[in-house]
Amino acid sequence: MISEIAKRTIDLAVTTPSADNSQPWRFVNVGDRWEVVYHHAGSKDLFGPTGHATLLSTGALSYNLEQICGSNNTSASIDTAGNWRLSFAPPDRINEATESALRQRHTNRHPFIGSINNSPIEPIGADNQIRLQFISEPTSIRKLAEAIKICSELRFKNEELHKWLFSSLRWSPSEAETGDGLDLRTLHLPPGGKAFMKFISSWPRMSALNLLGISKAMALIDSLPVRNAPALIVISSKQEPALTWQAGHKLAEIWTNLNQAGLAVHPYYVITDIANRLQRGEFDETAAGFAKKALALSRNVLNLEADELPHIVLRIGYPTTRPERSKRKSADSFIIESQLDSL
Ligand SMILES: Cc1cc2nc3c(=O)[nH]c(=O)nc-3n(C[C@H](O)[C@H](O)[C@H](O)COP(=O)(O)O)c2cc1C
Repeated sequence: MISEIAKRTIDLAVTTPSADNSQPWRFVNVGDRWEVVYHHAGSKDLFGPTGHATLLSTGALSYNLEQICGSNNTSASIDTAGNWRLSFAPPDRINEATESALRQRHTNRHPFIGSINNSPIEPIGADNQIRLQFISEPTSIRKLAEAIKICSELRFKNEELHKWLFSSLRWSPSEAETGDGLDLRTLHLPPGGKAFMKFISSWPRMSALNLLGISKAMALIDSLPVRNAPALIVISSKQEPALTWQAGHKLAEIWTNLNQAGLAVHPYYVITDIANRLQRGEFDETAAGFAKKALALSRNVLNLEADELPHIVLRIGYPTTRPERSKRKSADSFIIESQLDSL
């Protein structure tokens, strides 16, 4: 019998952000404690248990669990290959202010306004090996937007990424009720945008349209909000699994705090994703050339060493729209009552 407080802990923990709202976890009950294990939906496992996006999201989950259960009741470890363990003991009661802050954190993909001159993350501060950069200078913002545009174009030309994006989309409110994936209503689409997205959801059609330059237009649309952003925050470090985990932990902390301060947040992962694909040798010579150009541009603006990588770029500003919020699956659907059930 699973206790009500354990279910409430899991329900709140999975408000954690994950790439395309994939929520790639299961929670296994082991005596008084719970172990988090990796789980991917569908037949294609895009990131894997030790993939960069998984480590970033699960590092963020460890932040949420620490907030809910307390640091003493949350335990995390990760080895140099990226194999991780995360476990926790549910608290006796959940602090109301904590619950409210974690539930209010959300993605806003609409335009932002305002100018932000002082870094809103100063009070948070960087961990030893994690770089936190606040960027409000227009030339630097423009250069990062350019790097995002180049990477975004590569993504729209990549069959695997196209299929992943479109398999994540939830087209109707009833599809969104399944509780995972990207609810189309959370995107900032112009009138007719949904029909256009449906039109390009077929890869053969998209790849034919790419010959006419559609990927260029899509990349421009994708990167324009960054170009017009009041400010950006970038989280970077050397490329080690333990640091990616820490960066995810920091991401959740920063994001929760910014939303509490009334600032809107929109993450962009495309530079990181393209950098990882480049490293794995997934691109042909032309695409690799563009990826290298975008990375060089990012490293130059951010003053990064060759072995450092931006983990994520956050577009921030004051919201113009109260966005639709992404759903989550029910706590029950994450629970495995014993190890035997998971076999
Ligand atoms: C590792 C990671 C990468 C993400 N990349 C993007 C991105 O490139 N573009 C975007 O719009 N949202 C991105 N997101 C935001 C997620 O799509 C979002 O957190 C998820 O859909 C849940 O919605 P919520 O943040 O409103 O709870 C990313 C989130 C994470 C954790």
